[in-house]
Amino acid sequence: MAESTLQLVANWKMALSLAESRGLAAAVAAHRRPARVAVTLAPSFPAIPAVREAVARSTIALAAQNASAEPPGALTGEVSLDQLRELGVTRVILGHSERRAKLGETDAGVGRKVAAAVRAGVAPIVCVGETADERRANHQVDVVRKQLTAALAGLRPPFGGAAMAVAYEPVWAIGTGIPIGPPQAAEMLAVVRQRIVDLVAPPFRGAFRILYGGSVDAANLRSFVGSGQFDGVLVGTASQRTEPLLSLLDAFANL
Ligand code: PGA
Repeated sequence: MAESTLQLVANWKMALSLAESRGLAAAVAAHRRPARVAVTLAPSFPAIPAVREAVARSTIALAAQNASAEPPGALTGEVSLDQLRELGVTRVILGHSERRAKLGETDAGVGRKVAAAVRAGVAPIVCVGETADERRANHQVDVVRKQLTAALAGLRPPFGGAAMAVAYEPVWAIGTGIPIGPPQAAEMLAVVRQRIVDLVAPPFRGAFRILYGGSVDAANLRSFVGSGQFDGVLVGTASQRTEPLLSLLDAFANL
C-alpha cells in the first residue's frame, strides 16, 4: 500500500524579515524533499509575494497566518480572504493560541473565520489546544471539544474540495522545547478525531487532516507522525531557520 502524504506546515509567525522569508523559502524550494512530505509555508502577510515567487514552479503551498471573516469593505487594517486568494494563498491558519491569548480571538470568532475561509475557497488550518492551567486541572478534553465545536459550527458542506486541517497544539508546548508526551498526544488525537466524527457528516470527514504542533523538531518528529498517528505537524521555532527546517524535512524520509 502506498504510504500516505504527511504535512509540514511552517509557521513563521512575525519572526522573519522579508529578506529572511524569501531566503528560507528559496532554500526549501531548492532542497530535495522526501516524496512523503507536503510542505506549506506560512509567512507573515507582507512576505507572501516574495515567498510566492521563491516557491513558484514547486509543489509548496502558501498559507496565511490569519484572515478577516468579513467581506471586502470598510475594515481598516484587516486582510480579506479574497486578497489572500489573489496572492496565491490556498490555506489559512486560524485560531492560533497566540492570537487567542494576546489578541482576543474568541471561539466564536474563529468559527466565523473558518466558515468564511471555506466559502472563499481557502482551506482553514484550525488551531486548538489547552493551556498549562487547563491541563493541570485535567480540562484538556473539554477545552479542545469546545474549541472544535465552535470552530466547525458554521461549516456548511460540501467544502469544495478544500483540504482542511485541525492542528492540536497544547499551548504549554508551544515554543518551550518541551513537546507533549506520545501517550498524551495519542489521547488528544483520538479526541479531535471523534469530535470531527460528531460534528461533520460522513461524506465530508475525509476532507480533514489532523496535525500536531508544539516544539516539533527533526529529533522528535517520529513520535507524532506516521501510521496511526497525526497526519502532519505545524512547526514554529524549528521552521524559522534553514538548518533545523531542512533537517526536519529530511526526517520525513526516515519515518
Ligand atoms: P513551536 O510553535 O514549534 O515553536 O512550538 C508551534 C506553533 O506555534 O505553531
